[in-house]
Amino acid sequence: MKPFVSTPLVSPARALAGTVTLPGDKSISHRALMLGALSVGETVVEGLLEGEDVLRTAAALTALGAELARDERGLWHIHGRGVGGLAEPTEVLDLGNSGTAARLLMGLAASHPFVSFFTGDASLRRRPMRRVAEPLERMGARLIAREGCRLPLAVVGTAEPLPITYRVPVPSAQVKSAVLLAGLNAPGVTTVIEPVATRDHSERMLRAFGAVVELSERDDGASAVMLTGQPELKPQRLAVPADISSAAFVLVASLLVPGSRVSLKGVGVNPLRCGLLTTLAEMGAELSLENKREQAGEPVADLVIAAGRLEGVHVPAARAPSMIDEYPALAVAAAVARGTSRFDGLAELRVKESDRLSAIAAGLAANGVNAEIEGDSLIVHGSAGPVAGGGQVETRMDHRIAMAFLVLGLGAKAPVAVDDGAMIDTSFPGFVALMNGLGARIAAP
Ligand code: S3P
Repeated sequence: MKPFVSTPLVSPARALAGTVTLPGDKSISHRALMLGALSVGETVVEGLLEGEDVLRTAAALTALGAELARDERGLWHIHGRGVGGLAEPTEVLDLGNSGTAARLLMGLAASHPFVSFFTGDASLRRRPMRRVAEPLERMGARLIAREGCRLPLAVVGTAEPLPITYRVPVPSAQVKSAVLLAGLNAPGVTTVIEPVATRDHSERMLRAFGAVVELSERDDGASAVMLTGQPELKPQRLAVPADISSAAFVLVASLLVPGSRVSLKGVGVNPLRCGLLTTLAEMGAELSLENKREQAGEPVADLVIAAGRLEGVHVPAARAPSMIDEYPALAVAAAVARGTSRFDGLAELRVKESDRLSAIAAGLAANGVNAEIEGDSLIVHGSAGPVAGGGQVETRMDHRIAMAFLVLGLGAKAPVAVDDGAMIDTSFPGFVALMNGLGARIAAP
C-alpha cells in the first residue's frame, strides 16, 4: 500500500494553470497492440499508454507469439502473426488489473486451436467473466472456470470458430469486442447487436487495419455491427489520442480550484465517450473544444477549461455507457456543485475495478459530503463550494477512485488521504507529477 494525500488549494493564489498532454487512451492502446499482433508486417504505434494495464496486454501478446518492442523515441513496433496465427502460450497470461485485456484476449484466444490460461490480480479475479464466456462458447470454444465464472480460467480454443449473431445482454464494449475479435478468425459474418451503443474503438480500428465492418439499425432501434471474418489485416502507423477518461480528473480539478485555467492537447472526443463533456456543460462548466481533427480514425480536440460555479445535474441512464468510467470524477464535481445531482443507470459501476457505486458513496461520506445510493442511482447533495474533506478514502485497488478523491482534496477545506495511490499507474502513469506541475499539492508521504 502506498498512501497519497492531497492538500486543499481553495485559495485563489494556488490556481491550476498550464497546457498539458495526457497519456494515450487506454481502450485504443489495447486495441492497437492486439490488431498489430494480428497483421502481417510491422505496425508502429505512437503515444501508446504505457500504463500497467496496457503493458500486461503487450506481455500477453508476446506470450502468444507476436514481437513487440519499444524504441528509444517511445514508439512501439509490433510484428504480427496474421489473423489466426497466434501461438499457444507456454505461460499463464496474467492480466493484472485489466478487465479489457482479459476479456478481449479471451476473445482472441477462443478462435485459435490451443489452450490458454488466464489470471489477474485480486480485483480482476472478482470480476464477472460469464458475459464473455457465454458468446465465446457459442462460437465453439470451451471455458473452464471456477465458481461464478471468475479468473483464473482456461480457454480451450476452437480450430473452427462459428460466426454467430449475438445480442449483448449488458451494455459492454468489452463483450462486443471479444466477440468481434473471435469473429476475425471465423469464416463468414459475425454480428453483434447492441440495444445501447457502447464505445466503437474496435470497429474503427478494425476498419483502419482493412477489415470490413458494417453497421445497421434494427427495427427495434438496436444497432448491429457486422464483421466479415478472415480478413488480411494490414499493418498501420497510428498515433493514439490522449485519454478522455484521464482528462476527466484534470477537468474536474480545474473546475473546482478557483481561478484555474488549463488546456489539454489532443484528447480523444469520440461521441460514444463524451458523456462527461455534455454533463459538465449542463452543470455550467466553461469548457471549449478547439482545433478539432482526426487521429487514428478517432475524433480529437484540444480541451480548454476554466474554474467556475457548478450546478447540480440529472444524468439519465441512457448516457451512462458514454461516460461509464467518469462517474468517480463526476461525483467529485457534484460534491462541490450547488444543489442535488442524480446519476441513474449505474448497475455496471458495481462490477468495475471495484464496486465503484459503493466506493464513491463511502469516499464522499468520509469527507463530509451527503450522498445516497438508491437502487442503481447515485444521489449527491452538493456543498455549493469546498467540501469539508479530512477523510481517509479506501480505494479498493481502484485507480479511478484514488484519482477522484485526490482531486476532491484540492477543493476541500482539509487534506484528503487515499489509502493506496500505487494503482494509479494502471491507467495514468505520472498523474501526481502532472497535477503538481499544474500547481496541485499531492504527496506520497
Ligand atoms: C472498455 C470498456 C468499458 C470501460 C473500460 C474499457 C473498453 O468496460 O469501463 O474501462 O476498452 O472496451 P465495459 O465494456 O465492461 O463497460
